[in-house]
Amino acid sequence: MNNNINKEYLKMFEQLIKEQLERAERLKTGSEFTDYTSASKIVVGIIPGDGIGPVIMNETVKVLNVLLTDEIKSGRIELRPIEGLTLENRVAKGETVPSDVLAAIKGCDVLLKGPTTTPDKNSGLPNLESANVTLRKELDLFANVRPVSIPELGIDWTFYRENTEGEYSLGSKGIVISDDLSVDFKVTTMAGTERIARAAFEFAKANGKTRVSIVTKANIMKKTDGKFLDLCYNTAKDYPGIKTDDWYVDIMAANLVNEDIRAGFQVFVLPNLYGDIITDEAAQIQGGVGTAGSANVGAKYAMFEAIHGSAPRMVADGIADKANPASIMKAAVMLLRHIGMTEKADKLDIAVNTAANALNMSGTADGNSAREFSEIVLKSI
Ligand code: IPM
Ligand code: MG
Repeated sequence: MNNNINKEYLKMFEQLIKEQLERAERLKTGSEFTDYTSASKIVVGIIPGDGIGPVIMNETVKVLNVLLTDEIKSGRIELRPIEGLTLENRVAKGETVPSDVLAAIKGCDVLLKGPTTTPDKNSGLPNLESANVTLRKELDLFANVRPVSIPELGIDWTFYRENTEGEYSLGSKGIVISDDLSVDFKVTTMAGTERIARAAFEFAKANGKTRVSIVTKANIMKKTDGKFLDLCYNTAKDYPGIKTDDWYVDIMAANLVNEDIRAGFQVFVLPNLYGDIITDEAAQIQGGVGTAGSANVGAKYAMFEAIHGSAPRMVADGIADKANPASIMKAAVMLLRHIGMTEKADKLDIAVNTAANALNMSGTADGNSAREFSEIVLKSI
């Protein structure tokens, strides 16, 4: 075996660290949040995505066209279809988000996005980064906000998942040193952590929440999660009315299914990967990953999406029409709230719950269809 470290790898590592230091520096400049309530025109980019994406998006756009008839007519809101964020086009261009598509996306204010497929390692397709991850980074959508609510169980959780760093920063830039050794990287920056912590505590304060729980694995990931934990507690000092506690991610996974204590949690702040995992668990407790919406919020842009994937199995089985549009519609609810249309958001939220209660959206051949779902939503709004 050759134990001499190939100098190439050290160079790669040096380059990665340089880029991350530059990013950490850029982040410190911060920027102002867009206020949509006074905007004369808001462009909503519609990105259907892959697999079941076009099916559920189609139904959602039907609903939005009805809900926003007046605003669309007056020109205050434009629903703008964005084409080309498909696996076929991404593979053909060899780009995760082809540059013309990215330019079209950047011409919008907010985005509603269906699930996009990421080629997996053994698919024979190029090793493209997840389009989600690329968009989150490109548009600097640092806060992934995922609400989960089950009123009958007293559960009202809001997750603030850090969305641009952690294991995802360099997720596609790990290094295979040899057959015997692979290395991935995890990144935590001061500014990146402070802004997600601030967002979580500000949300708590503005919404009368009294508790924020920090979730890490700082006993093992001492440098990255350790920094995350310390900085969150530091931010907590500015919110004396809010009780702050912290948990390791493993016991938090258990807490969420512990009926004696789970309703006591309110707001969570977590690094990227733990947020990914814990929010799927939370969504499942609510009724399935098809039931939860997700907001990716930055200072300038915001992107709203379903938290589930593109369900290639449903497409292969010929039952894509049975996909549950609840999650993407919940994302549309969050989008409407984000642009200040609270009443319409509430209306849509109630309608989606009505449809969800009336139908069997099992995603199987004998379940109800996305179209039946939107028909009930349309009737109810
Ligand atoms: C999510 C998804 C994404 C993630 C995937 C599709 C890259 O699981 O939004 O939670 O890991 O963040
Ligand atoms: Mg996920």
